[in-house]
Amino acid sequence: MSFLEMLDVLNEGLINKGEEPVVFDHDCREGICGTCSLQINGEPHGPDRLITTCQLHMRMFKDGDTIIIEPFRAKAFPVIKDLVVDRTSFDRIQQAGGYISVNTSGNTIDANTIPINKHDADESFNSATCIGCGACVAACKNASAMLFTSAKVSQFALLPQGRIEATERVLNMVAQMDKEGFGNCSNTGACEIECPKGISLENIARMNREYLGASLKG
Ligand code: SF4
Ligand code: FES
Repeated sequence: MSFLEMLDVLNEGLINKGEEPVVFDHDCREGICGTCSLQINGEPHGPDRLITTCQLHMRMFKDGDTIIIEPFRAKAFPVIKDLVVDRTSFDRIQQAGGYISVNTSGNTIDANTIPINKHDADESFNSATCIGCGACVAACKNASAMLFTSAKVSQFALLPQGRIEATERVLNMVAQMDKEGFGNCSNTGACEIECPKGISLENIARMNREYLGASLKG
């Protein structure tokens, strides 16, 4: 049984008894959407590695274990109800610069005609695998969103299509991250350990270089 199926069983029992079910977030249940965000026994997405809560199985626990489930904790993730938090702060960081502008007036260049070396393409793809779950924030004692934001900056920074708006992108996304109330990077690397997609701390280093370069230009 998966962890979320266990919660389904719990809720069926509560509903059958006429009690309120426990509210929790989920959608794809296959590690893609990033909505299933639970702090399980003190760890975002629970005790297993490189998986989301929906990919966690009850075989990771022993019979009779007490399991403590909490919502992700961060000032920028206010609790909506029970185990559901509001992560629209991530959406606003994305909206501040997590996009590229493409001329679609008939002169659009076919993306396949722009050569990109394999290393950069692979690194960009790795950064793009961030699912915006928020585990990095929940794992950080400062509730920093540096790993998330740096992944979103990096996926464009590594591609020629992303260079056009690179300066304003990094400045605006970092400004929005600060405005939302996320803390500073604690340099402990807890975010990388708890990230279900293995997003590397190298993304933070890249974002810092991008930010420094952009600040000097400004
Ligand atoms: S960097 Fe990892 S932990 Fe943070 S939001 Fe992206 S996928 Fe989740
Ligand atoms: S429900 Fe979509 S990642 Fe878990």
